[in-house]
Amino acid sequence: MSAMLGLSYIIINSEIPMAVPEKKTAAAPHRSATLAVGDKNLSFPMLDGTEGPSVIDISKLYGESGHFTYDPGFLSTASCESKITFIDGDAGILRYRGYDIDALAEKSDFLEVAYLLLYGELPNAKQKQEFVRTITLHTMVHEQLHFLFRGFPRSSHPMALMVGASASLSAFYHDSLDINVPEQRELSCWRMIAKMPTLAAMAHKYSVGHPFIYPQNDLGFSENFLNMMFATPCEKTKVNPVLARAMDKILILHADHEQNASTSTVRMAASSGANPFACIGAGIASLWGPAHGGANEAVINMLREIGDVKHIPEFIKKVKDKSSGVRLMGFGHRVYKNYDPRAKVLHKTCSEVLAELGKIDEPLLKIAVELERIALSDEYFIERKLYPNVDFYSGIIYRAMGIPSKMFTVLFAVARTVGWVAQWKEMMEDPKNKIGRPRQLYTGARQRAFVPLEKRS
Ligand code: CMC
Repeated sequence: MSAMLGLSYIIINSEIPMAVPEKKTAAAPHRSATLAVGDKNLSFPMLDGTEGPSVIDISKLYGESGHFTYDPGFLSTASCESKITFIDGDAGILRYRGYDIDALAEKSDFLEVAYLLLYGELPNAKQKQEFVRTITLHTMVHEQLHFLFRGFPRSSHPMALMVGASASLSAFYHDSLDINVPEQRELSCWRMIAKMPTLAAMAHKYSVGHPFIYPQNDLGFSENFLNMMFATPCEKTKVNPVLARAMDKILILHADHEQNASTSTVRMAASSGANPFACIGAGIASLWGPAHGGANEAVINMLREIGDVKHIPEFIKKVKDKSSGVRLMGFGHRVYKNYDPRAKVLHKTCSEVLAELGKIDEPLLKIAVELERIALSDEYFIERKLYPNVDFYSGIIYRAMGIPSKMFTVLFAVARTVGWVAQWKEMMEDPKNKIGRPRQLYTGARQRAFVPLEKRS
């Protein structure tokens, strides 16, 4: 490819002028990279973040050289500037607004983390109280949405309901659709965070043929969610606080993950000025895929298929045989080339939940633990830096709680909604926001003459 373009090399000019102190942020480039294209030397500014690799700003590359860059899957491309989440995949670090994920999971709660992601700081006591109250007041959905659900077959995958129901909110809440008004943007964020658990529980209730359970404003966020999932009008349930806390932790761990596929989808959809509810619907569609949020459901299916610890070696053999097309689900990550820090927290939470429910001998957990042990000592996985990811244990916890596997990705969507709206809000507030419009390397047919039907072979 480089020969084709006449592109010979990139030089990073890293001399920092004496007057420039330490690292500069994206606003103030202080180094440049030189790209030799044919006989031209082009210089591009380098931008430093607060942490992580610096980037080469190639936005003027096409104008100056007539060439695009080619980076399928965005392996080397930063699509935006963001202050929300930092990941160091080699070191296994994940931070929201500078706070380590394990500290947030252990010491904070989901709505506090939602506030942090949206506004950049942990709330003080008064701010927290107001925020929790605000979100609580938005948990109910328009009654008409009950009819939307009733239009779907009961056998629908709940993610199909979620894609439709989330986007349909734009038909109900016209007073928060003007993306140019900050107050309306904020109202949309609150509504999405508050209503997603209600929609998720409705998707579950609809699939099992139960009546919908309305949100209860005297319950905490996760407690209310579990209540809407499991209560019935005939039988009140008292949500087990250990399970509510575990759910809260799971939601925190899944809340944001910088520019992953679904978040990038939300940003891309929103870049055209589309309303936030429709954009979140697009994000949910992207999350549904088995390489992304659908993996936790796939993990349980895989563990069930393995069926017994004694079948693990045979399964691993299949995974290593590329022609089988079988992957070890819940293992590997585009960014983490180390143990996913979320998986660490979840492994512990999994043991706590199973102990609380008296299911510590759960056969699937035994298979998972043994599978992990074997994979982590196998050359195939070591060489490729494949470690358990967030989905490896979450499914076992959900299953123990009585949540059907089709709902797993829906729970991921409930949590990630916070990240999506925080990233959307950040993008809307960014003066550099432009419509997302990637280019391509065209390899199709050159111009040719139209052939009439009767002359085609
Ligand atoms: N099992 C077996 N081999 C694997 C796996 C796996 N789970 N993941 C990657 N590999 C191999 C892959 O075959 C390739 O081998 P080779 O170099 O010999 O061709 C090498 O590792 C690199 O894989 P890749 O597909 O180029 O890596 P990627 O960064 O494009 O893919 C991934 C990341 C998450 C899609 C992939 O690891 C995967 O499919 N994992 C299983 C699905 C899963 O658990 N997804 C949840 C991700 S975490 C939740 C989320 O953020 O949504």
